[in-house]
Amino acid sequence: MKDWEACYKNGETPWDKGLPAPPLVDLIDRFGTALFSGGPVLVPGCGLGHDVRLLADLGIPAYGLDISQTAVAVASALTQHPDARFEHGDFLDPAWPQSRKFKAIWEHTCFCAIDPTLRGAYARAVTAVLDPGGIFAGVFYLTPSVPGDDDAGPPFEATVEELDALFFQWFDRIDGWVPEQCYPGREGREWIGIFRKLPVEMLDRSVANLKKGKVSAPVDLSLYQEG
Ligand SMILES: C[S@@+](CC[C@H](N)C(=O)[O-])C[C@H]1O[C@@H](n2cnc3c(N)ncnc32)[C@H](O)[C@@H]1O
Repeated sequence: MKDWEACYKNGETPWDKGLPAPPLVDLIDRFGTALFSGGPVLVPGCGLGHDVRLLADLGIPAYGLDISQTAVAVASALTQHPDARFEHGDFLDPAWPQSRKFKAIWEHTCFCAIDPTLRGAYARAVTAVLDPGGIFAGVFYLTPSVPGDDDAGPPFEATVEELDALFFQWFDRIDGWVPEQCYPGREGREWIGIFRKLPVEMLDRSVANLKKGKVSAPVDLSLYQEG
Protein backbone atom coordinates (compact mmCIF):
# COMPACT_ATOMS: atom_id res chain seq x y z
CA MET A 1 0.00 0.00 0.00
CA LYS A 2 1.25 3.49 -0.83
CA ASP A 3 2.49 5.52 2.13
CA TRP A 4 0.29 8.59 1.70
CA GLU A 5 1.51 10.22 4.89
CA ALA A 6 5.12 10.07 3.66
CA CYS A 7 4.04 11.64 0.35
CA TYR A 8 2.47 14.63 2.10
CA LYS A 9 5.32 14.94 4.63
CA ASN A 10 7.89 14.96 1.82
CA GLY A 11 5.87 17.25 -0.43
CA GLU A 12 5.65 14.52 -3.10
CA THR A 13 2.08 15.22 -4.17
CA PRO A 14 1.99 15.59 -7.97
CA TRP A 15 -1.80 15.02 -7.93
CA ASP A 16 -2.34 18.23 -5.97
CA LYS A 17 -2.89 21.06 -8.46
CA GLY A 18 -3.79 23.65 -5.83
CA LEU A 19 -7.34 23.92 -7.21
CA PRO A 20 -10.72 22.20 -6.91
CA ALA A 21 -11.11 19.29 -9.32
CA PRO A 22 -12.26 20.60 -12.74
CA PRO A 23 -14.78 17.72 -13.05
CA LEU A 24 -16.45 18.94 -9.83
CA VAL A 25 -16.84 22.36 -11.50
CA ASP A 26 -18.17 20.53 -14.60
CA LEU A 27 -20.76 18.73 -12.46
CA ILE A 28 -21.85 21.92 -10.68
CA ASP A 29 -22.14 23.75 -14.03
CA ARG A 30 -24.46 20.97 -15.21
CA PHE A 31 -26.62 20.39 -12.11
CA GLY A 32 -25.99 23.36 -9.85
CA THR A 33 -25.67 22.47 -6.18
CA ALA A 34 -29.16 20.95 -5.80
CA LEU A 35 -27.71 17.50 -6.41
CA PHE A 36 -25.95 17.71 -3.05
CA SER A 37 -29.26 18.43 -1.25
CA GLY A 38 -27.82 21.02 1.10
CA GLY A 39 -25.23 18.58 2.47
CA PRO A 40 -23.41 17.51 4.42
CA VAL A 41 -21.21 16.15 1.65
CA LEU A 42 -18.38 13.76 2.46
CA VAL A 43 -15.17 14.01 0.43
CA PRO A 44 -13.15 10.83 1.13
CA GLY A 45 -9.42 11.12 0.40
CA CYS A 46 -9.77 14.91 0.41
CA GLY A 47 -6.03 15.63 0.38
CA LEU A 48 -5.44 19.34 0.96
CA GLY A 49 -9.17 20.04 0.83
CA HIS A 50 -9.66 22.11 -2.34
CA ASP A 51 -12.96 20.39 -3.22
CA VAL A 52 -14.20 20.68 0.37
CA ARG A 53 -13.57 24.43 0.34
CA LEU A 54 -15.29 24.87 -3.04
CA LEU A 55 -18.42 23.09 -1.77
CA ALA A 56 -18.44 25.12 1.45
CA ASP A 57 -17.98 28.36 -0.52
CA LEU A 58 -21.10 27.38 -2.50
CA GLY A 59 -23.07 27.04 0.73
CA ILE A 60 -22.87 23.24 1.11
CA PRO A 61 -21.47 21.94 4.40
CA ALA A 62 -18.61 19.64 3.42
CA TYR A 63 -16.52 17.16 5.37
CA GLY A 64 -13.09 16.04 4.24
CA LEU A 65 -11.61 12.74 5.39
CA ASP A 66 -8.05 11.63 4.73
CA ILE A 67 -5.78 8.85 5.90
CA SER A 68 -2.83 11.26 5.98
CA GLN A 69 -2.58 13.27 9.18
CA THR A 70 -0.34 15.82 7.47
CA ALA A 71 -2.84 16.34 4.63
CA VAL A 72 -5.62 16.94 7.15
CA ALA A 73 -3.48 19.35 9.19
CA VAL A 74 -2.59 21.37 6.08
CA ALA A 75 -6.18 21.29 4.80
CA SER A 76 -7.43 22.57 8.16
CA ALA A 77 -4.80 25.31 8.27
CA LEU A 78 -5.78 26.46 4.76
CA THR A 79 -9.47 26.64 5.67
CA GLN A 80 -11.40 29.31 7.51
CA HIS A 81 -14.89 28.42 6.31
CA PRO A 82 -17.15 27.23 9.18
CA ASP A 83 -18.92 24.80 6.82
CA ALA A 84 -15.68 23.05 5.82
CA ARG A 85 -14.45 20.44 8.29
CA PHE A 86 -11.71 17.82 8.18
CA GLU A 87 -10.92 14.57 9.93
CA HIS A 88 -8.01 12.17 9.91
CA GLY A 89 -9.22 8.60 9.37
CA ASP A 90 -9.44 5.54 7.15
CA PHE A 91 -12.52 5.50 4.94
CA LEU A 92 -12.22 1.72 4.63
CA ASP A 93 -12.34 1.14 8.39
CA PRO A 94 -15.81 -0.43 8.86
CA ALA A 95 -16.11 1.34 12.24
CA TRP A 96 -15.81 4.80 10.68
CA PRO A 97 -19.32 5.14 9.19
CA GLN A 98 -21.07 3.83 12.29
CA SER A 99 -21.98 7.18 13.83
CA ARG A 100 -21.97 9.23 10.63
CA LYS A 101 -24.45 9.91 7.87
CA PHE A 102 -24.16 12.14 4.80
CA LYS A 103 -26.57 13.37 2.14
CA ALA A 104 -23.95 12.99 -0.56
CA ILE A 105 -20.39 11.97 -1.35
CA TRP A 106 -18.05 13.65 -3.81
CA GLU A 107 -15.32 11.24 -4.93
CA HIS A 108 -12.20 12.51 -6.67
CA THR A 109 -9.08 10.33 -6.92
CA CYS A 110 -9.62 8.36 -3.70
CA PHE A 111 -11.21 5.36 -5.46
CA CYS A 112 -8.37 5.23 -7.98
CA ALA A 113 -5.83 5.54 -5.16
CA ILE A 114 -6.86 2.41 -3.28
CA ASP A 115 -5.83 -1.09 -4.26
CA PRO A 116 -8.42 -2.60 -6.64
CA THR A 117 -8.81 -5.59 -4.28
CA LEU A 118 -10.36 -3.14 -1.78
CA ARG A 119 -13.07 -1.85 -4.11
CA GLY A 120 -15.75 -3.98 -2.48
CA ALA A 121 -14.85 -2.45 0.91
CA TYR A 122 -14.97 1.00 -0.68
CA ALA A 123 -18.48 0.36 -2.08
CA ARG A 124 -19.67 -0.85 1.33
CA ALA A 125 -18.24 2.26 3.01
CA VAL A 126 -20.00 4.52 0.48
CA THR A 127 -23.28 2.70 1.06
CA ALA A 128 -22.94 2.71 4.84
CA VAL A 129 -22.36 6.47 5.23
CA LEU A 130 -25.09 7.65 2.85
CA ASP A 131 -28.69 8.29 3.77
CA PRO A 132 -31.15 6.29 1.64
CA GLY A 133 -31.75 8.42 -1.45
CA GLY A 134 -28.28 9.97 -0.96
CA ILE A 135 -26.05 10.80 -3.89
CA PHE A 136 -22.69 9.25 -4.67
CA ALA A 137 -21.05 11.42 -7.34
CA GLY A 138 -17.53 10.83 -8.47
CA VAL A 139 -14.98 11.19 -11.19
CA PHE A 140 -13.15 7.98 -12.08
CA TYR A 141 -10.09 7.25 -14.18
CA LEU A 142 -10.85 5.29 -17.33
CA THR A 143 -7.21 5.37 -18.42
CA PRO A 144 -4.87 6.80 -15.78
CA SER A 145 -1.67 6.08 -17.71
CA VAL A 146 -0.76 7.26 -21.15
CA PRO A 147 -1.24 4.25 -23.45
CA GLY A 148 2.05 2.36 -23.58
CA ASP A 149 3.07 3.30 -20.03
CA ASP A 150 3.85 0.37 -17.80
CA ASP A 151 3.03 2.29 -14.62
CA ALA A 152 1.29 -0.16 -12.28
CA GLY A 153 -0.61 2.49 -10.27
CA PRO A 154 -1.94 4.10 -8.21
CA PRO A 155 -3.85 5.59 -9.89
CA PHE A 156 -5.77 2.46 -10.86
CA GLU A 157 -8.23 2.50 -13.73
CA ALA A 158 -11.86 1.42 -13.71
CA THR A 159 -14.41 0.76 -16.42
CA VAL A 160 -17.96 2.08 -16.44
CA GLU A 161 -19.20 -1.54 -16.49
CA GLU A 162 -17.16 -2.34 -13.38
CA LEU A 163 -18.48 0.72 -11.54
CA ASP A 164 -22.07 -0.11 -12.47
CA ALA A 165 -21.61 -3.68 -11.25
CA LEU A 166 -19.92 -2.56 -8.03
CA PHE A 167 -22.72 -0.20 -6.97
CA PHE A 168 -25.71 -1.86 -8.66
CA GLN A 169 -26.84 -3.71 -5.54
CA TRP A 170 -27.55 -0.54 -3.55
CA PHE A 171 -27.71 2.25 -6.13
CA ASP A 172 -29.37 3.41 -9.32
CA ARG A 173 -27.05 5.21 -11.69
CA ILE A 174 -28.79 8.39 -12.72
CA ASP A 175 -26.16 9.88 -15.03
CA GLY A 176 -22.69 9.43 -16.45
CA TRP A 177 -20.54 11.43 -18.87
CA VAL A 178 -16.99 12.26 -19.85
CA PRO A 179 -16.31 15.71 -18.36
CA GLU A 180 -15.34 18.60 -20.61
CA GLN A 181 -13.53 20.31 -17.76
CA CYS A 182 -10.43 18.42 -16.68
CA TYR A 183 -6.74 18.91 -15.98
CA PRO A 184 -4.57 19.17 -19.11
CA GLY A 185 -3.65 15.68 -20.29
CA ARG A 186 -6.75 14.04 -18.82
CA GLU A 187 -9.04 14.85 -21.75
CA GLY A 188 -11.32 11.87 -22.44
CA ARG A 189 -9.65 9.77 -19.76
CA GLU A 190 -12.07 10.44 -16.91
CA TRP A 191 -15.74 9.66 -16.38
CA ILE A 192 -18.24 11.21 -13.98
CA GLY A 193 -20.86 8.87 -12.55
CA ILE A 194 -23.84 9.86 -10.40
CA PHE A 195 -25.51 7.17 -8.36
CA ARG A 196 -28.51 7.43 -6.02
CA LYS A 197 -28.76 5.08 -3.02
CA LEU A 198 -31.93 3.03 -3.21
CA PRO A 199 -34.58 3.66 -0.58
CA VAL A 200 -35.20 0.68 1.69
CA GLU A 201 -38.50 -0.15 -0.02
CA MET A 202 -36.65 -0.74 -3.29
CA LEU A 203 -34.23 -3.28 -1.90
CA ASP A 204 -36.51 -6.12 -2.98
CA ARG A 205 -34.96 -5.45 -6.34
CA SER A 206 -31.77 -6.98 -4.99
CA VAL A 207 -33.55 -10.17 -3.99
CA ALA A 208 -35.03 -10.42 -7.48
CA ASN A 209 -31.60 -9.83 -8.96
CA LEU A 210 -30.09 -12.45 -6.70
CA LYS A 211 -32.56 -14.98 -8.08
CA LYS A 212 -31.68 -13.93 -11.62
CA GLY A 213 -27.97 -14.33 -10.82
CA LYS A 214 -27.35 -10.61 -11.42
CA VAL A 215 -25.86 -10.13 -7.96
CA SER A 216 -23.94 -12.70 -5.95
CA ALA A 217 -25.15 -11.93 -2.41
CA PRO A 218 -28.31 -10.62 -0.77
CA VAL A 219 -28.28 -7.00 0.23
CA ASP A 220 -26.63 -6.34 3.59
CA LEU A 221 -29.24 -4.49 5.63
CA SER A 222 -26.68 -3.36 8.20
CA LEU A 223 -25.63 -0.81 5.58
CA TYR A 224 -29.09 0.71 6.04
CA GLN A 225 -28.96 1.18 9.78
CA GLU A 226 -29.50 4.67 11.13
CA GLY A 227 -26.32 6.39 12.26
C1 LIG B 1 -4.32 10.84 -5.30
S1 LIG B 1 -4.62 11.56 -3.75
C2 LIG B 1 -5.94 12.70 -4.11
C3 LIG B 1 -6.15 13.74 -3.06
C4 LIG B 1 -7.21 14.78 -3.42
N1 LIG B 1 -8.49 14.15 -3.71
C5 LIG B 1 -6.74 15.62 -4.58
O1 LIG B 1 -7.26 15.47 -5.68
O2 LIG B 1 -5.80 16.40 -4.38
C6 LIG B 1 -5.47 10.25 -2.88
C7 LIG B 1 -5.84 10.66 -1.47
O3 LIG B 1 -6.56 9.62 -0.85
C8 LIG B 1 -6.10 9.48 0.49
N2 LIG B 1 -6.44 8.10 0.90
C9 LIG B 1 -5.95 6.94 0.40
N3 LIG B 1 -6.52 5.89 1.01
C10 LIG B 1 -7.41 6.40 1.91
C11 LIG B 1 -8.29 5.82 2.85
N4 LIG B 1 -8.39 4.48 2.99
N5 LIG B 1 -9.05 6.64 3.63
C12 LIG B 1 -8.97 7.98 3.51
N6 LIG B 1 -8.13 8.59 2.64
C13 LIG B 1 -7.36 7.82 1.84
C14 LIG B 1 -4.61 9.79 0.41
O4 LIG B 1 -4.03 10.14 1.62
C15 LIG B 1 -4.62 10.94 -0.61
O5 LIG B 1 -4.80 12.20 0.02
